[in-house]
Amino acid sequence: MPDKEKATLLTARILTEDLRTKPTLVLGLATGRTMKQVYDHLASFHLLEALDFSRCSTFNLDEFIGIPTDHQGSYRRYMQEHLFNRVNITIGNTHLPDGMAPNLAQECQQYETLIKASGGIDAQLLGLGIDGHIGFNEPLSALLSRTREKALTPATLAQNAFMFGGDPSRVPRRAITMGVGTILDSRRCVLLVTGASKASILAQAVEGPITSMVTASALQLHPRCQVVVDEEAATNLKGKDYYRWVFANEPEWVPFRDLDALKPRAAASKS
Ligand code: GLP
Repeated sequence: MPDKEKATLLTARILTEDLRTKPTLVLGLATGRTMKQVYDHLASFHLLEALDFSRCSTFNLDEFIGIPTDHQGSYRRYMQEHLFNRVNITIGNTHLPDGMAPNLAQECQQYETLIKASGGIDAQLLGLGIDGHIGFNEPLSALLSRTREKALTPATLAQNAFMFGGDPSRVPRRAITMGVGTILDSRRCVLLVTGASKASILAQAVEGPITSMVTASALQLHPRCQVVVDEEAATNLKGKDYYRWVFANEPEWVPFRDLDALKPRAAASKS
């Protein structure tokens, strides 16, 4: 995509089409700065196109250990602010791991059980960590791992510092995350990556070898994974021309090719 605005819009449209096709969609959600704009778009689709979230349920990838849900840095709070409070979702259907659970191992197991009991994740939204992680699956995470506790790398603490007043030392050192195996079980994955700072790690994830050093590379094993990028993030991709050809020719992209048509309809008719 030419820029971040278009990349986030396309990503939101992919999820919107899934939700329209299946109103009881089980949606896997991600956090981070990149996703804010995706949630802005979903909120405007709700407002302007009556996109209905009332019957869908959600599972977030991860949550910090040891901070309450109302803490400014918690992912529950992020989700409330950026999405849940802005659409007609049933809060009881929204799930994040509980980083304050007295028994964290049990909490992780219950999260897996809950995902299975919901029928599995239909569509999983993913961002890319600067160290190549998906969720909080830091380097050397087993590629078959399930939901569990994980120590975060200094690079990840820095990436998440914006939620803690810009101070990496205030970011919790550990988190609960879905495993790479949990993510690979989703029926569809959408990896969204924008900005020049991700260009090098994106190329490793997409075109490099599958390795637990870059857990996003495990997505190469997924039969239905779409990667949405902006021009800046795509800088180091060797196969760029071919990927453009795929976008122009593969039927799965047909509903999304007209970038102007991706905008919320009411807004588009005003312009
Ligand atoms: C956190 C999340 C990841 C997300 C990443 C991206 O580390 N645990 O799931 O991919 O943020 O962050 P940003 O979009 O701010 O670069």
